[in-house]
Amino acid sequence: MDNSQFSAIRLLRLAMLAALVLPVILFLFLAVTNYRHTQYVADQRIERTANVLHEHGLKVFETVERAIAETNEIVRGMSDDDIRANEKQLHERLRAMVESLPQLKSLWIFGSDGRALVSSLAYPNPNVDFSDRDYFRAHIDKDAGLFFGRVLRPREPYPGGDFFSVSRRRPSDDGSFRGVVQISLRPEYFEQFYAKLQSAYPGGYAAMVREDGAVLARFPVLNQDVTIRSASPLGDSMRAHPSGGFVEQQSVVDQIDRRLSWQKLSDLPVFVLAGTETKAIRSEWLSSMAGYVLFGIPATAVLLGVMGMALERTRRLYVEQGRRVAAEGALRQAQRMEAIGQLTGGVAHDFNNILMIVKGNVHRLRRDLDDAKLIRKLDMIDTAAQRGETLTRQLLAFSRRQNLTPSVIDLAQRVREFRSLLAPSLRGDIEIRIDVPSTITAVRVDVSELELAVLNLAVNARDAMPNGGTIEIGVRPVTLRGEVAYDKLQGEFVALSVADTGSGIAPDVIARIFEPFFTTKEVGKGTGLGLSQVYGFAKQSGGTVTVWSRIGVGTTFTLYLPRSREVPQRSAPVRADDAATEEAGSVLVVEDNTEVADIATALLNELGYRVTRVGSALAALDLLRDGERFDLVFSDVVMPGGMNGVELAHAIRKDYPDLPVVLTTGYFNALDKPLPRGLPVLRKPYDIAELKKTLQTAMSRTGSAAATG
Ligand SMILES: Nc1ncnc2c1ncn2[C@@H]1O[C@H](COP(=O)(O)OP(=O)(O)OP(=O)(O)O)[C@@H](O)[C@H]1O
Ligand SMILES: [Mg+2]
Repeated sequence: MDNSQFSAIRLLRLAMLAALVLPVILFLFLAVTNYRHTQYVADQRIERTANVLHEHGLKVFETVERAIAETNEIVRGMSDDDIRANEKQLHERLRAMVESLPQLKSLWIFGSDGRALVSSLAYPNPNVDFSDRDYFRAHIDKDAGLFFGRVLRPREPYPGGDFFSVSRRRPSDDGSFRGVVQISLRPEYFEQFYAKLQSAYPGGYAAMVREDGAVLARFPVLNQDVTIRSASPLGDSMRAHPSGGFVEQQSVVDQIDRRLSWQKLSDLPVFVLAGTETKAIRSEWLSSMAGYVLFGIPATAVLLGVMGMALERTRRLYVEQGRRVAAEGALRQAQRMEAIGQLTGGVAHDFNNILMIVKGNVHRLRRDLDDAKLIRKLDMIDTAAQRGETLTRQLLAFSRRQNLTPSVIDLAQRVREFRSLLAPSLRGDIEIRIDVPSTITAVRVDVSELELAVLNLAVNARDAMPNGGTIEIGVRPVTLRGEVAYDKLQGEFVALSVADTGSGIAPDVIARIFEPFFTTKEVGKGTGLGLSQVYGFAKQSGGTVTVWSRIGVGTTFTLYLPRSREVPQRSAPVRADDAATEEAGSVLVVEDNTEVADIATALLNELGYRVTRVGSALAALDLLRDGERFDLVFSDVVMPGGMNGVELAHAIRKDYPDLPVVLTTGYFNALDKPLPRGLPVLRKPYDIAELKKTLQTAMSRTGSAAATG
């Protein structure tokens, strides 16, 4: 992936993060504002309820006060005895008054001794002492005004439920204590009203309390006498701000946390309270938040999912794109190498024929000259031709048109012997390590090309380590499964690696190192053909070569050679007899190029052969059919006239199986027709020693085959 792709991916990742973080922040913000809002709404409702309670309380106590005043008015000017005398009538009046007001339980007139003179409850009144009741005692010593008593139980034999009382001193002209007018109120009445008001809301609360905190009525109903402690937050705030306010506190009675508001009933010593459980406020908030969560989470998840998919697809697209670019690059590289190969192969082929002529004529001239000066000049021409020969050989190797003579060898075994092969080319400060398996790793390769390839790699490694280092040569069997770097090769291979601890190769250079004539070395130091030979050899052997390198760390070249199923042989060098035989035999030379034919004839003559020349394969066959007898046919491969050297060799194999054939070529295409088995091929340009060796081998082999067959 390149930089822009990386930043695109990073941007997508950031967007994904934002898609996660933003909803969370939004949600938190919503949660806070929603909580505040819920609280605000709850407070408003509590306050509204408190207002209603206040209004209700005032109304109730107004009627209570009026009832007390009316009662006082009824008995004005009557002595206690008068009242007792009219008890029945008065009882009826009081009863009628109570019945008209549902909040009242009973109405009483007490004498100064605390006994009831008359009540709305009973006639005649049982003689019971009430002088110990708070609503009575409050008025004895002073005019207590309108007094609110605690919640009490009715005293025997009076029936009914709990009550609290509102009482007032009976008026007297002289200010003396004449008794009390008292009204019993039913807390139930208030509690029912509170329930109606608050039960619609979860956690609703309403109460009426005395200034000192004594609870007179409450919803939810408590069947016990309770006082709000004066030191509690509520008690403190109520006294500090009688007109109202808010407080949160835990009830000592039921241990429930509530948010409460209070209001004092004008100048009455009574407060009304409204409230809601904080748990209810919280759960209202939570349930409204649940809505957001219910929609928010799936929406966020979908968003994240979509973005994740986009990210994944983009990433895959980029990876795929990268892979395609790499594959296209590899293809372009391969095509370029192929084109260069074609070019160099063609040039080298023509060049070989030219060299053949130069070398042959040098050879002939050498025989005719005895002037030392001229011979030295001849030597220089010879050396130059030799260099040219090496060059064309390397070019042919690269273009994979090398004339290979492959044999099956055990690569591990052969590499073990490389130490002595390489040592002369390396320096003392370079250590060679060889790591090969003990198992047999058979490959079918041209051994001399293999040695040359390893030598080229080792020399490159040496040059990359001017201050010394290590060259490690390893062999290991591998199975390739079409990995891109290995030219999509598949199957069983042997990997031969040459690793150094040298300078490494710069990334911009590495693509070109296998090209012929590519070198980073000074002029005259390197030809740039070393790795071309390695490349050509690997390819022509059916394998490939890869390179790994890191600047300052080192470089590893790995040759992949197809594993062979054949049993490797230790090929003994063919020992040729050096002595030229007087009458070596007759040779039919088949060659279309006259100059090359001249040289071949000259060399063959020098070796003692009689030579007959023809210009084409068909002409050669004609001669043979005419009954001419030769000891050997020496033919060029590439010839005009419809039949090439290989076809000629096949034809001769068929019709004249005892007649040995040697082919010669400067150009060999492995894809051409397969060669008849054991057919020797002499590379152009060749010298007289090579010619002699090849011809002798060919003749002796056919001879022995004939002898056994
Ligand atoms: N082991 C290595 N370490 C560093 N660079 C290398 C190594 N092998 C090859 N190279 C680089 O690859 C280039 C081409 O190598 P190649 O063997 O084809 O040519 P050369 O060594 O320059 O010349 P020649 O081998 O023909 O004398 C070298 O010039 C060098 O820059
Ligand atoms: Mg080299």
